[in-house]
This record gives sequence, C-alpha cells and structure tokens, in this order.
Amino acid sequence: MILNRSDFRTLSDISSTSPEASSQQPPRHVAVIMDGNGRWARARGVPIAQGHYEGGEALQRCVSAALEHGVEYLTLYAFSLENWRRSGEEIEELTSLLQFYLRHRFDALDREGVRLRIIGEPERFGEELCAELRQAEEKTRNNKRLTLFLALSYGARAEIVGAARDLVSKVQQGALRLEDINEDVFSSALQTGDAPDPDIIVRTSGESRLSNFLLWQSAYAELIFLDVLWPDFSEADFAAVLKDYMQRHRRFGGRPA
Ligand code: FPP
Repeated sequence: MILNRSDFRTLSDISSTSPEASSQQPPRHVAVIMDGNGRWARARGVPIAQGHYEGGEALQRCVSAALEHGVEYLTLYAFSLENWRRSGEEIEELTSLLQFYLRHRFDALDREGVRLRIIGEPERFGEELCAELRQAEEKTRNNKRLTLFLALSYGARAEIVGAARDLVSKVQQGALRLEDINEDVFSSALQTGDAPDPDIIVRTSGESRLSNFLLWQSAYAELIFLDVLWPDFSEADFAAVLKDYMQRHRRFGGRPA
C-alpha cells in the first residue's frame, strides 16, 4: 500500500485512540530510499540538478527530524550501484553536490552530534572525494547522538557478497571456524555491522520496491511507501512515518502477547 499525506491524518487519529498504540518501542533505526528528484524537476521544467539540490535540502530536513525524534541510526540511500548508468553529466552534478555538502554543511551536523559512516564503494567517486568522506567519518567517529549511514555507490547484493568473502578469508586464515558462522556473525560482517537492523524502510515517490537496498538487514523492517517526491519530504512527513510505525504490531513471526 502506498500512503499519501491524507492517509497519515487518518493514521494519526487511529494512533491517538488505540490503546495498543503505545506498546510499540520507538524505532532506533530508520532507513530511507530518497526517490523522486528527477520527477520533481521534470514536473517543474527545471534541470535535474535542481531536483538533486532540493533533494539535498530534504536530506537535511530528514536528518534534523531524526535528531529531533531521538532516532539513533539513519541510513540514506544517496547513490546506488545502478546509478552509475546515468549520464556523466548527472553523475558529475551529484558528485559536486556531495562535495558541497561535505565542505559547507557537514560541520553543522558534526556540532549536532552526528557520526557519519559511508557504506557502499565510495572509492568509485575518485581519490579526492573518497579522502574527504573518510576524513568526515574520522572527524565524527566519537559523536554519539545519531549515526548517519550514507549509502554511496551501494548495492545490497554486493555488500552481502563482500561479507561472505570476508568470512571465507577469515576461515582460510584460521581466524574463524566454519561452524561458528551464524546469522549474528554474518550481520556483523556487513557494512552496517555495528548497527541494529532498520525498524523502518521508507521509500518516497510512490514506488514500492527495495531496489537492492539493505536486503539482509530489512528482514523484519516495516516498509512504508510514501506518495511524496523526495524534494518535498518534510519534517512533518518524518513524524508521520514514525506515527504510522508506532501503531503497527511487529510480531517477528510470533503470536501477539
Ligand atoms: C533519486 O531520485 C535520487 C538520487 C539518485 C540521488 C539522491 C540524491 C540526493 C537526495 C541529493 C543529495 C545528494 C547527496 C549525494 C548528498 P531520482 O533522480 O532517481 O528521481 P526520479 O526517479 O524521479 O528520476
């Protein structure tokens, strides 16, 4: 089901009247597929670059909302492995935008207590940008309020293959026994290894697919598809997503208590 903003009004009514609504723990980890920059730009007859720029503004609103609501982990899908198929011009625009954010906007997030972690293959953006990303990670590594995983040149299947390779290599070196590999060990070998699995995966723009995002980690995530283009995503949308989540009943395969 794809939700639009009027559905959220109904859901907030439900959550304020349902006695079970408060039984759900608030989400620790929210993950977002930020989709719709291109459609937002095309609908206005403006260059795609402007859609991405406004997408960057929405990204900041999303981080602010996560901080405000005490979310501990936020994972944002900024560039997929498949996005390398886009034109050189669009890739360059996105790369410049990322560099602009790192150089001019990132200090504010650092001051707010945001720890940046990059997942994916940032090396593919070139040595200079990759070094800046690694510096930002290093600078913020002791921040405690919110861990922001930025997925750049990310693909979940590639991440899973990478984890499998790491584990095999440890077994070959004698650092790990084959019989000790279990789901927890495998989770820890993923790039999000030290974070809990996402409680919620949100996708904007009305599309309802995971598109190779956090495939292992999403096993029990609540999926929320919003009929809002990413550049229009607001702090109120974030709050509404949390409200929707809070009135769902997660059973992890068991029976209700
Ligand atoms: C999807 O919209 C969005 C992206 C491919 C890029 C996400 C980028 C941002 C949110 C801007 C901030 C960027 C960085 C790197 C900090 P789309 O272009 O696929 O939209 P469409 O499906 O409507 O064409």
